[in-house]
Amino acid sequence: MTILDGKKVSNDIKDEITEQVKKMKAKGEKVPHLAAVIVGNDGASLTYVASKVRACERVGFESTMVRLSNTTSEIELLDKIEELNVDDNIDGFIIQLPLPPQINTQKVLMAVDPSKDVDGFHPENFGKMALDMSTFIPATPFGILELLDRYGVETKGKHTVVIGRSHIVGRPMSILMGRKGFPGNSTVTLTHSHTKNITQITSQADIIISALGVPNFLKAEMVKDDVIIIDVGITRVPDETSPKGYIITGDVDFDAVSKKASYITPVPGGVGPMTIAMLLKNTLLAREQRM
Ligand code: GUN
Repeated sequence: MTILDGKKVSNDIKDEITEQVKKMKAKGEKVPHLAAVIVGNDGASLTYVASKVRACERVGFESTMVRLSNTTSEIELLDKIEELNVDDNIDGFIIQLPLPPQINTQKVLMAVDPSKDVDGFHPENFGKMALDMSTFIPATPFGILELLDRYGVETKGKHTVVIGRSHIVGRPMSILMGRKGFPGNSTVTLTHSHTKNITQITSQADIIISALGVPNFLKAEMVKDDVIIIDVGITRVPDETSPKGYIITGDVDFDAVSKKASYITPVPGGVGPMTIAMLLKNTLLAREQRM
């Protein structure tokens, strides 16, 4: 069994980006600048955005965090987005999800200039992705592809089962794994809350990518020997013995499933750090495209 070490690989990627930023600086070029907009006070979202900003500092990017209150109206957010769209200093920006209920997420994502949409959530970029055109690939799926690539995990002809059809992970992942190319060329099954007898499907999978958000959902009895496991779950589970009062728990019963797996991502330290590294990569790409 091989651990797919997202922490290590993401650090390698950050080192590579740091080198590229140094070269940009040496040539007197502007360094990439990422802005992250967060609406409200959700603890997990604040933690993720803080990590994204810290990662920018680590690689030498500029960063701006825009914090808006929980009562921000849709118009106010759309105004802020327009400001970022026309600000020449900002190369890319993200709107951290989820948004409070008074705001229409689709409307917001469509307001982002596609050339600055480093999350790859705008329909133009999502459509390009589905059509194999060069674009920003959403950071979590992009991170999973990169992890599979760097460990040389074969995906061609394999049966990949994706659990969860969110716009951020499951849906794009199902498209990317079925694309021509590497990683890709998988036969993909996309499962969701209406899927019947999921164990029958997961037990036939060569690769399982779980983005469900239900702690320890995937048990050893649900998978076959030598399965490849990508665990995208990051649920905070209350735990009095931990200093933070919670522990981050994946969708996969790691101890039992890892005994059957050929490759598996840990939680934490698997997909999570890769998401941030690939957001940086998209931001670098955005800067390069603006030159
Ligand atoms: N919420 C959970 N994952 C993500 C992500 O990748 N990008 C944004 N903007 N919000 C998220």
